[in-house]
Amino acid sequence: MSMIGDLNPPPRLLMGPGPVNCDPRVLRAMSMPMLGQFDPAFTAIMNEVMALYRRIYQTKNDWTFLVDGTARAGIEAILVSLIAPGDRVLVPVFGRFGHLLAEISSRCGGEVHTIEREWGTVFTPEEIESAIWRHRPRVLALVHGDTSTTMAQPLENIGEICRRHDVILSVDATATLGGMDVAVDTWMVDAMSAGLQKCLSGPPGSSPITLNERTAAVVNRRKHVEAGIRPEGFVPGNGPRIQSNYFDLPMLMDYWSEKRLNHHTEAASMLYAARECARLLLNEGLSACFARHRLASEALTAGLRAMGLSLFGDQRHKMPNVTGVVIPKGVDGEGVRSEMLNDFGIEIGTSFGPLRGKIWRIGTMGYVCRKENVLTCLAALDAVLRRHGVAAIAGAGVDAALSAYRKAEGAPARAAE
Ligand SMILES: Cc1ncc(COP(=O)(O)O)c(C=O)c1O
Repeated sequence: MSMIGDLNPPPRLLMGPGPVNCDPRVLRAMSMPMLGQFDPAFTAIMNEVMALYRRIYQTKNDWTFLVDGTARAGIEAILVSLIAPGDRVLVPVFGRFGHLLAEISSRCGGEVHTIEREWGTVFTPEEIESAIWRHRPRVLALVHGDTSTTMAQPLENIGEICRRHDVILSVDATATLGGMDVAVDTWMVDAMSAGLQKCLSGPPGSSPITLNERTAAVVNRRKHVEAGIRPEGFVPGNGPRIQSNYFDLPMLMDYWSEKRLNHHTEAASMLYAARECARLLLNEGLSACFARHRLASEALTAGLRAMGLSLFGDQRHKMPNVTGVVIPKGVDGEGVRSEMLNDFGIEIGTSFGPLRGKIWRIGTMGYVCRKENVLTCLAALDAVLRRHGVAAIAGAGVDAALSAYRKAEGAPARAAE
């Protein structure tokens, strides 16, 4: 049998919609030694992680912890624990990930109702409230930033609407947490989940979630602890048993609380990664980090426009973390992506569904969200596009982006000025 060589992935600059390059300090944290599940040193790290993510989610929620698995593990844990068979669920869909929420909700046995918006737009609070009047859901499942369209759904009023109608609001903030304001308590969001591989600069495989007491009360009514670890005298909740064991929030909550009732074996390396992601972000400061993402978006979009390219979607609602670029007529979008990758080592994103073949998506998230990467990406795109016959002034994109950075730095746009 021939020998399999060293694992040696090519170095890439990951400027798609995620995953992005990890901060090297996160990778270093992942190589720290294993600890036993109930070692006080390990449970102390679990508690630190809870405290760190409370600050990132801007919440006082005690129930702020990790679900092992990628971002959809967090989504699925929340939805399968909240939605009992037959519960009505409303999902406003404005991109691929709204469809994912609807799909997961229906697998949970929910009676799912969707409202849809053309990709590239978002809902008004009135549209969501009138759908709530129509469908009377128990749960509203909503995406904050949908990477498939690059749009961010404003959430400021949605929580208050849900409270008035006694609806539980669950939000997927995978693409936005750490890259733009996500204010769980102020926005009255009941449950929220994310992943590490975007604005948190970590690898995929851990999903930080947060739940308020309202959500905890609903899921605890379905609490059925598995035999073998069930404490003596335990009285199960009177709601139907949660259909997943792995994603059973009440059992996960017992594990993450001082009860430390064993459930799965916590993914120690991912716990370390999640801790380092959060620590680095908070050391930078939430507002500084949001400003870094905003500036990268301003510079990138200035550069793309200067190259004569059009941006996709309603720009008032564009996430700073990902930018949709309309593929110019006659240009082979996949050919451009593969030259970006093979000649420059830069990954930019393709797209799905109705946008397939129509837009590229360029991510400026987390560790990747830096001036030198924005400029490098624009320079490479400029070279590749001119080879594909797109008439653009050489260097115009880099020049415009650099001017945006210079302006933000308080320096003149050019040396002569
Ligand atoms: C908005 C959004 N939600 C959910 C997911 C699913 O995340 P994962 O692939 O980590 O399960 C993604 C991944 O790109 C996403 O962008």
